[in-house]
Amino acid sequence: MALLSLSGLDVRYGAIQAVRSLDLEVNEGEIVALLGANGAGKSTTLKAIVGLAPGKGEIRFAGQAILGRDTEEIVRSGLTMVPEGRRVFPSLTVGENLRLGAATRGDPAATLRLRKEVETLFPILAERAGQAAGTLSGGQQQQLAIGRALMSEPKLLLLDEPSLGLAPQIVDDIFDLILRLKARGLTILLVEQDAVAALDIADRAYVMANGRIIMAGPAAELRASEQVARAYLGIAGEHAA
Ligand SMILES: Nc1ncnc2c1ncn2[C@@H]1O[C@H](COP(=O)(O)OP(=O)(O)OP(=O)(O)O)[C@@H](O)[C@H]1O
Ligand SMILES: [Mg+2]
Repeated sequence: MALLSLSGLDVRYGAIQAVRSLDLEVNEGEIVALLGANGAGKSTTLKAIVGLAPGKGEIRFAGQAILGRDTEEIVRSGLTMVPEGRRVFPSLTVGENLRLGAATRGDPAATLRLRKEVETLFPILAERAGQAAGTLSGGQQQQLAIGRALMSEPKLLLLDEPSLGLAPQIVDDIFDLILRLKARGLTILLVEQDAVAALDIADRAYVMANGRIIMAGPAAELRASEQVARAYLGIAGEHAA
């Protein structure tokens, strides 16, 4: 049984249908990439999963139907999203941002344990615990946004464009980190515009266009398909496998 399954998901914003009859599955332990051009509906899909966009259809997580539930309840059940643009609370300290990530837990001992784990994963967050989050570099803010999500102890992490706006070296670090999270047992649904990098670390991938899934399969197969590369992923010929 899939850890997460979407069937026939529709999302409308007034007259705009952002997601159309979408089917998607994420199995336990996988990294699944969700790719597609600007406006394809990737962020909307992630938002619908965590109850932040108005979905219709079916969304099941760990066997439970979650569509229509409160975001807080969904997070408590083990599903957390790191939104596009790594939104941290800039005037709060790094430590305060991390504590907010554990707000759905409300268990001081667990919070302390998670804080230690996150600070082991991201030593910079321990070093800068008392510093305003808005003064961190872009890459550090992305670490904080992911660290804050991990404070809710998710089983499934939804990442929306974690590499956006970061220097290539930092992007490599973020993708390494995603692989380390997988090795620790986390399941990941990754939205990315950097299709090559995403397909290199993903097990499977889906490609969206105009609200629909237009292609799906093992990441290695999509990575190797020149047709996919040229038509859907915006990968220049010399980079395509
Ligand atoms: N709150 C909203 N109200 C109205 N329309 C919206 C809203 N959010 C998104 N849309 C529209 O829904 C469509 C899908 O947007 P979405 O943000 O999901 O795309 P995306 O694939 O994440 O794109 P990008 O790669 O640029 O982040 C777009 O046409 C967008 O303009
Ligand atoms: Mg988006």
